[in-house]
Amino acid sequence: MQKPIGIFDSGVGGTSIWKEVAKMLPHEHTIYLADSANAPYGEKSKEEILRLSIKNTEHLLGRGCKIVLVACNTATTNAIDHLRSHYDVPFIGIEPAIKPAALHTKTKKVGVLATKGTLSSGLFHNTSKLYAEGITVLEQEGKGLVELIEAGKVQSEKMKQLLSGFLQPMLDENMDCLVLGCTHYPYLMPVLKEILPEHINIIDSGEAVARQTKAVLEQNNMLSDFHGEPEHIFCTNADVVVLKDLINRSTAKVSYLDF
Ligand code: DGL
Repeated sequence: MQKPIGIFDSGVGGTSIWKEVAKMLPHEHTIYLADSANAPYGEKSKEEILRLSIKNTEHLLGRGCKIVLVACNTATTNAIDHLRSHYDVPFIGIEPAIKPAALHTKTKKVGVLATKGTLSSGLFHNTSKLYAEGITVLEQEGKGLVELIEAGKVQSEKMKQLLSGFLQPMLDENMDCLVLGCTHYPYLMPVLKEILPEHINIIDSGEAVARQTKAVLEQNNMLSDFHGEPEHIFCTNADVVVLKDLINRSTAKVSYLDF
C-alpha cells in the first residue's frame, strides 16, 4: 500500500520520531505536520489540545494517509482515545517511557521531564501507576523548553540554565534514569549530556514508537510495496528554517502551509 504515513506534532519535535520511523521503514512515504503556530500545546487546556489534534488528523486523512502517528506526548495523552474512536485508521501514540525506566533503575528513583499537559493527564497517571510500583517518579515540567527549541535555540545559555534548574532537584533526590517525555527533548541530548553525570540513563520512546508503527502496518497488511526512494513531505505553519535544520535531509520537501 503506497499511501503515506501521516505524522503530526505541536511543532518541530516530532521530527525526532519521524527520523526513527524513516530509518525503520525506509520504503514508506510520509507527510509531517508541524503545528508550530500553535506551539506549545503543553500549556493549553485538554479541550484545546483535542481541537488541534482533530484539525491535524483531518488534514492528514484528507491527504490520504493510511495511519496517523501522534508524535506528541501531550496530544497523545489528551486526545488519542477520542481520535481512535472517531476515525477509521490506526493511530500510534507516544507516552513517556516509564516502563523501561522502571525496569532499569537501581536507585528506584526515575525522573520524568515532560509538559504540564502530559504530566496532568489521566493516561500518564495510569501508566505510572501500572508500571512504576515501588518506584518514586519525580515529575518535572519542562516549562519554556519547547519555545526555545521552536526558536532554534537548543544550544543557548538560557537552555542550559533552564535545564540545570530542572534537573538538579531530581539529581539531589538520587534519580538514575531520566525519561524524556516530550518529542522535542531528544534534540536536547548534547546539552543534557553536558549537565548530567555519566551514570544517568536517558530514555526516550522514539525507537519503540517506530517499532510499534511497523508492527501495526504489518498486522493491517498496510506496509508499502514501493521500492524506490520514498517521498517525505513536511509542512509547517511557522518558520521553515528551524524545521529544515532539524530534519537535515536534502531530499525532504519542506514548505510553509496555513493548515
Ligand atoms: N512535542 C510535544 C510533546 O511531545 C511538545 C508539547 C508542547 O507543544 O508543549 O509533548
